[in-house]
Amino acid sequence: MFESYPEPFNAVVVGASGGIGSAFTQHLAGSGKVDTIIAYSRAPTAGHGKIETRALDFLDEAVLAAEANYLKDLAPRLILIATGVLHDGAAVQPEKALRQLDIGTMEEVFRINTFGPALTLKHFLPTLPREGKSVAAAISARVGSISDNGLGGWYSYRSSKAALNMMLRTSAIEMSRRWKEAVCVGLHPGTVDTALSKPFQSGVADKKLFSSDYSAGEMLKVLDSLTPEQTGQVFDYAGKVVPF
Ligand SMILES: NC(=O)c1ccc[n+]([C@@H]2O[C@H](COP(=O)([O-])OP(=O)(O)OC[C@H]3O[C@@H](n4cnc5c(N)ncnc54)[C@H](OP(=O)(O)O)[C@@H]3O)[C@@H](O)[C@H]2O)c1
Repeated sequence: MFESYPEPFNAVVVGASGGIGSAFTQHLAGSGKVDTIIAYSRAPTAGHGKIETRALDFLDEAVLAAEANYLKDLAPRLILIATGVLHDGAAVQPEKALRQLDIGTMEEVFRINTFGPALTLKHFLPTLPREGKSVAAAISARVGSISDNGLGGWYSYRSSKAALNMMLRTSAIEMSRRWKEAVCVGLHPGTVDTALSKPFQSGVADKKLFSSDYSAGEMLKVLDSLTPEQTGQVFDYAGKVVPF
């Protein structure tokens, strides 16, 4: 894997504490093509081997700016944003009906699913090397597709992911002017067995519930296969475009 990247490279994972984020980190650590993984989370545990753990609150721009300054010299070729919220086990729950909309929940979901990743793109994208393939990817979700929404429900989560897709698309266009070989995309991981999906797994067939390890590995293969001509889109774990 990682054959498309020109040389051994450094990688960044934001949300490295999560189910999919930690699987990304492990895949990267297992590759001879990857030098150092800078693994960000809000409350990092100790790093080991090639994994350097660092604290990040991506809603604090001063912290993001300081970390971007740190990353400048490392010039990561791969930036993965694997943060997100669907429920918090308490007040934040996916809404089934309009009458359940609540300003506090909507703000919280958009802060984590849209604003944090967008601010991360603002500060971290400029640290990608100008020459050779580089990739910035954030995990979105198929339910963020407006044209694919036949089921309804999950108002805030769906809308925050649709807005994330627009942030990614717009960033990709701006980037392509100066980073000619860069790829900036969203990813749909499938339904993955993590804390985020746990309360909603009952209707999912066994074979359709992926392990984090499998989903992360497939998404890294997809990123490996992408070219700059495909920037600005959303791809699922199998490499298929998810329509906006
Ligand atoms: N699992 C699925 O079936 C599925 C399907 C489609 C899309 N996705 C997307 O995949 C991504 C990863 O989800 P996951 O399944 O791996 O869930 P997860 O295990 O719950 O991980 C969520 C990650 O988001 C971080 N996070 C949550 N609230 C945050 C906040 N306020 N500020 C900063 N970071 C915060 C968590 O960090 P802390 O440890 O600091 O809380 C954690 O690293 C999400 O974007 C999710 O929407 C998942």
